[in-house]
Amino acid sequence: MKKLGLHEIRKEFLSFFQEKEHLVLPSFSLVPKNDKSLLLINAGMAPLKPYFTGIEEPPKRRVVTCQKCVRTGDIENVGKTARHATFFEMLGNFSFGDYFKKESIKWAWEFMTERLEIPVEKLWISIYKDDDEAYEIWNKEIGVSEDKIVRLGKDDNFWELEIGPCGPCSEIYVDRGAEYGCENEDCKPGCDCDRYVEVWNLVFSQYDKDEKGNYNPLPNPNIDTGMGLERITVVLQDADNIFEIEPIKSIVKRVEKICQVKYGTDNKTDVSIRIITDHIRAITFMVSDGIIPSNEGRGYVLRRLIRRAARHGKLIGIKENFLYDLVDEVIKGWKEIYPELSEKREQIRKIVKIEEEKFEETIDQGINILKEHIEKLKKEKTNILDGNTAFKLYDTYGFPLELTKEILEEEGIKVDEEGFNTEMEKQRERARKAREKEDKNAWKLDFTAELGNLKTNFIGYDKLVSNSKVLALINNEETVDELVEGNNGIIILDKTPFYPEGGGQIGDIGTIENDEFKAIVNDTKKENENLILHYVKVLEGKISVNDLVKANVNVEKRKNTARNHSATHLLHKTLKDVLGSHVNQAGSLVEPNRLRFDFTHFEGISKDELNKIEDIVNKKILEGLNVEAIETSLDEAKKMGATALFDEKYAEDVRVIKMGDYSMELCGGTHVKNTSEIGLFKIISESGISSGVRRIEAITGKMLYEYLLDINEKLEKLTRILKTNEKDIVDRVEILNKENKVLQKEVDRLKSKLASSKIDDIIKEAKEILGIKVISKKIEGMDANSLRDLGDKIKNKMDSVLVVLGTVNNGKVLFISMASKDLVSKGIHAGNIIREVAKITKGGGGGRPDMAQAGGKDPSMLDKALNSVENIVKCQIKA
Ligand code: ALA
Repeated sequence: MKKLGLHEIRKEFLSFFQEKEHLVLPSFSLVPKNDKSLLLINAGMAPLKPYFTGIEEPPKRRVVTCQKCVRTGDIENVGKTARHATFFEMLGNFSFGDYFKKESIKWAWEFMTERLEIPVEKLWISIYKDDDEAYEIWNKEIGVSEDKIVRLGKDDNFWELEIGPCGPCSEIYVDRGAEYGCENEDCKPGCDCDRYVEVWNLVFSQYDKDEKGNYNPLPNPNIDTGMGLERITVVLQDADNIFEIEPIKSIVKRVEKICQVKYGTDNKTDVSIRIITDHIRAITFMVSDGIIPSNEGRGYVLRRLIRRAARHGKLIGIKENFLYDLVDEVIKGWKEIYPELSEKREQIRKIVKIEEEKFEETIDQGINILKEHIEKLKKEKTNILDGNTAFKLYDTYGFPLELTKEILEEEGIKVDEEGFNTEMEKQRERARKAREKEDKNAWKLDFTAELGNLKTNFIGYDKLVSNSKVLALINNEETVDELVEGNNGIIILDKTPFYPEGGGQIGDIGTIENDEFKAIVNDTKKENENLILHYVKVLEGKISVNDLVKANVNVEKRKNTARNHSATHLLHKTLKDVLGSHVNQAGSLVEPNRLRFDFTHFEGISKDELNKIEDIVNKKILEGLNVEAIETSLDEAKKMGATALFDEKYAEDVRVIKMGDYSMELCGGTHVKNTSEIGLFKIISESGISSGVRRIEAITGKMLYEYLLDINEKLEKLTRILKTNEKDIVDRVEILNKENKVLQKEVDRLKSKLASSKIDDIIKEAKEILGIKVISKKIEGMDANSLRDLGDKIKNKMDSVLVVLGTVNNGKVLFISMASKDLVSKGIHAGNIIREVAKITKGGGGGRPDMAQAGGKDPSMLDKALNSVENIVKCQIKA
């Protein structure tokens, strides 16, 4: 078995299936899109449902992912055992009506046995009881013996969610050995013990289950597979459980440090440490995907996780809020793969901290109240807490019902959940009534609700100036009648040339003004499809609703942005042509100063490829292709072959940007009229931002001109300094380099000659210490070689001596030490001496008794260090 780590296995898996012509897609967000049946993504296939059912066209018929997942179904068991987890990553390869059973089984086997090198004898297979086809493939084609293929029923080998694509499945198990097993004679896959670990589930997804529970056959059978990344890592590393593998283990260690309790010493504290370790992963990833603690839906799942983890922190003696800090350990462990973690670090820490503080305010009170109730119930010899009290704990002290249940369970007490739900419903009713009465306290004023049916007409594709009417003004999140000098507010117009941020292109800036008023627009955003918000600062005068104003977009910025946006389209198409059709946009940022394009691609891009890409984009610019914007229907656009962004929802009416016959993309952004306006295109960086996603940054037009001026200026400076001209500058530098090397050699030679000439003087300085001749001396301007050389020469000239020489080289201290044979036999050890000496200069080193070398960091201590030799020698001899 290959002893790979978590990140290595992920990489192996993705590249294995990429070799089998799968498109590598980055993990989708934990928040499902357009899927009301699911609170959180809980399997690799979940975000891909529309491709399975055929509602949407996949970007490719073969896809492979490593998907972030959260499952809270058995959250009570998380921590109690070391096997359950709420957050995990699922590796999966998918076929949307492309390959089926045979290939999926063959490749799974190849990956397990050849890539991960899991010995064949450790592998077991389960299949759905009636699936003879799967049996034949495993047995006849792969060669798995009959006794290692287990047939199981619907509970085990039919995979389904509430609704959606599902089907019979076949699972691969790894036999971890008898030591993990029960004593049962017929223990085999399907047994409850830990011996056979189910690692990979291959689902032959043939049905679409509807709300009524009908299994409707899908037009094309699909493949959906899932392998828990943490679990396969545990198996390969022969670890006992997920808390023993990195980077999860590092979280455990950090928790140990915070609470000063060692993991593995007491079952009770172990449970808490595991809960915190598990939950902080789920918490960090959930918040990074935009989930915020609340009393509903996924926000409530998050709140429960934070509060449960916080309470367990208290149980193991942590006094302060600590979860927000622990977030960093998760970020550290996974940031290379999920860059959103580092990008949102501040936000994640803040949100977690606020929730911890909120809970902190009430948790002690709540726990005290609960304790009183527990005592009372015990006295009364009842073991059910009434729903009303549980609700009060929830409503006033922020105790999720599950937390109350968990605390009570430790005392053998249950909660009247029905009573709790009735109270909850009553409160909802009260809130509804309050809203009906428009009681302002019952809900916060939301300005967009007040704006009703207002609509801004965007006219900025053709125009950069407009005469517009003010429809509404906003200040401090409230609609107002006027904005005055100094206000930072929002202006809404009936029509505007300002492009609102969208499709990766940033919002326009500019001015809005009339004779009495002037404001600068710092940003423009879309509130919804109809409403455009200009974020302004009023410089002078005042403005009121219904005033007429002139809206001016900053032309230069807009033009630079358009150049970059059009260049992004050329780049996207060129990447597909040069690197392959698997390239898809994964993110884009179009600003006036630069463009940044993220896309799916599995490996670094070579210099040659980059040159080729840059070359083609520039050719397309110089060809002067006309840029047309075509408004049409989504269907028509797809028929035309326009590139649509994967993972993006489009309206029925769309806009297609066509550049000659080269590029055609769905896009709402602003562009040049002809590619020649872009001027020129230059890639300034290429890097990987997560597994399977690369990033290119580039500049065009004006910025590129400035970039060239800058380079030119540097070049001119260099020609002046080197006293040459541009044509000869490279030759000149090469010659200088060569000359420099020759000179350096000469300097070394002279230094050592100079040192030799001093030898006699140095020898004269030898001191006698307890009958031993000792030379301990600082020599200026030496390097390690010349110092050693000098030491050798002194030793050769004297029959019996201990030499310690020190020098400062490039700001660092160097030492050598040598002892003649007779002294070594008397107990002198050059290595030990020099180690002590170097310590004084904040360094270290050592070596043999007759010859050793060391270094130090603090040159100011060199003299003191060399003076210490005398004492050290005395100690050594006495010892
Ligand atoms: N969708 C399957 C699972 O989650 C592969 O197990």
